[in-house]
Amino acid sequence: MAEHEGAITPAGYSGAEYWNDYHQLARGRRLNRMAKLQVWLHSLVPFLEKVEKAHVLDLGCGGGHDALELARHGYSVSGCDISGVAIREARALAAERRLLASFVEHDIAEPLPYPDGLFGAVISNLTLHMFTADIAQRVVAEVWRCLLPGGFFAFHVNSTADLPYRRKLQPPVTQLDNGMYCFGRGQTMRFFSEQDCRQLVVDWKLLLLEPVQMLREDGAVQKCAWRCVAQKPKLSASEPDGA
Ligand SMILES: C[S@@+](CC[C@H](N)C(=O)[O-])C[C@H]1O[C@@H](n2cnc3c(N)ncnc32)[C@H](O)[C@@H]1O
Repeated sequence: MAEHEGAITPAGYSGAEYWNDYHQLARGRRLNRMAKLQVWLHSLVPFLEKVEKAHVLDLGCGGGHDALELARHGYSVSGCDISGVAIREARALAAERRLLASFVEHDIAEPLPYPDGLFGAVISNLTLHMFTADIAQRVVAEVWRCLLPGGFFAFHVNSTADLPYRRKLQPPVTQLDNGMYCFGRGQTMRFFSEQDCRQLVVDWKLLLLEPVQMLREDGAVQKCAWRCVAQKPKLSASEPDGA
């Protein structure tokens, strides 16, 4: 059995065990949180502003940094993540910062634990590429269900341009037979072409699709991704913009 196999669920993506280890290890690492917030969250805020402080869901919220940044700006926020370690961290950070937010431990490949039309916007930074194309499409269908008409779905996913950087960053690399790659100790990932992104939101109104790079402090490229914002159509043309 390859070293990573126990980390991957029968459906072909890294499971809770992998992600709990990942978040335990990340605790000790020095992360440039401000740069991350800037690249992955702040660029999405102009779209969130259109929904007038509506309820926002963060899918794959990790330690809750994006969700809590939004809570700090007056948004009502929920977050979910497969890792109990990450969710406990997010709840502790919310308590420490005296911010209100709801964090739930949940595998987003399963139906989302929220009623229809609860959210005005859903964000997901660097999480949807952890799944096969079929599962990612199912997650997006659930996002659609949980959004109000006119609501926004804003996310970042790995682009095909990221693969060479990722190969260097997280060896060894195994190409799986489901279109995915497995890195290091068992992190499954997919790399999106522009067409893959368009396909993911094919029933939505596409508002933004652009390539983005995250740079290291020395200016070298660290990560290449797609930034995508799509809107669930409003019920009728007479409805105001946003949810
Ligand atoms: C690369 S991290 C990004 C975390 C956060 N969104 C950010 O930008 O800092 C990917 C996150 O997705 C979560 N994740 C991976 N697979 C998941 C799944 N099946 N269901 C829910 N969360 C998942 C991981 O635990 C991790 O927190």
